[in-house]
Amino acid sequence: MMNARAFAQNEHLFHCPICSLTMELLEDARLVCEKHHSFDLSRQGYVNLAPQAHVTKYDKALFEARKTMITNGFFDPLLDRLTALVDEHVQHKQAPTIIDAGSGEGSHLASIVSKLSNPATGVGIDLAKEGVLAAAKDYPGHIWLVADLANCPFQDDAFDVMLNILSPANYAEFTRVLKPDGMFVKVVPENDYLKQLRTIFYEDAERQNEGNPVERMKDYFDNVKTERITYEFPLNQTLLENLIQMTPLSWGASAGKIEAAMKSEIPAVTIDYTIIIGTNE
Ligand SMILES: C[S@@+](CC[C@H](N)C(=O)[O-])C[C@H]1O[C@@H](n2cnc3c(N)ncnc32)[C@H](O)[C@@H]1O
Ligand SMILES: [Zn+2]
Repeated sequence: MMNARAFAQNEHLFHCPICSLTMELLEDARLVCEKHHSFDLSRQGYVNLAPQAHVTKYDKALFEARKTMITNGFFDPLLDRLTALVDEHVQHKQAPTIIDAGSGEGSHLASIVSKLSNPATGVGIDLAKEGVLAAAKDYPGHIWLVADLANCPFQDDAFDVMLNILSPANYAEFTRVLKPDGMFVKVVPENDYLKQLRTIFYEDAERQNEGNPVERMKDYFDNVKTERITYEFPLNQTLLENLIQMTPLSWGASAGKIEAAMKSEIPAVTIDYTIIIGTNE
């Protein structure tokens, strides 16, 4: 019910992922565009706007492990800083709109929106259905969508803030759906992120390198600034197992290496992020 209300109140934000025309939520709980492309609001309160099946390694077990880590405070220092940054930007705005592109199991967006000085509309999109399903169940009252961030199903200039946390980006789409002067906040892992696990999984291998995200952002945004956040997160055996389960780092590792990591008794891991902030032109 709460999710349906959030969709109904914000239908002006959407555009059809197939034809880009405007959409409305009909009484029979369908989001429909002017050309009659139609997407059902699921029983759990999300809409799938990327109806072709997507194969993803982000499955239910991964999101449950992520949630366990999150509720144990794994991201707390990062979330505190993101909340402060977002609040500074929206505190004087009427009914601000905030999107999390790559929202996973939804807790980052729900936590940030719940702590803002004035009420905001939160929209989470992710291509992994299991994440969106968990978000819709656990955090009612926000808008949860299965959608491809490379084909954002939103009108131009729809959002005051866009978050993009440890997820891929599509800058052409992001700048289109952000308002002029809207704030874009990206979080990327830094060199020491989970270094204790990396040494086990990738003895010789190089880190994945996706180019320099700060330089890429400067091509699309003004006033690009960075902040580094580094802290140690203490582990016990249960948290270590959940950490290994939640991170794509383990995807390339052999069963032997995963077992070695599970038995490693690592007492703490290093968390090391850069927050990159830019303003839409
Ligand atoms: C490492 S997870 C981070 C999730 C969440 N932001 C967090 O910090 O817990 C990366 C997320 O990006 C999502 N993702 C990857 N490609 C995507 C795409 N093209 N469109 C939408 N989401 C995508 C994945 O499904 C996954 O949930
Ligand atoms: Zn359409």
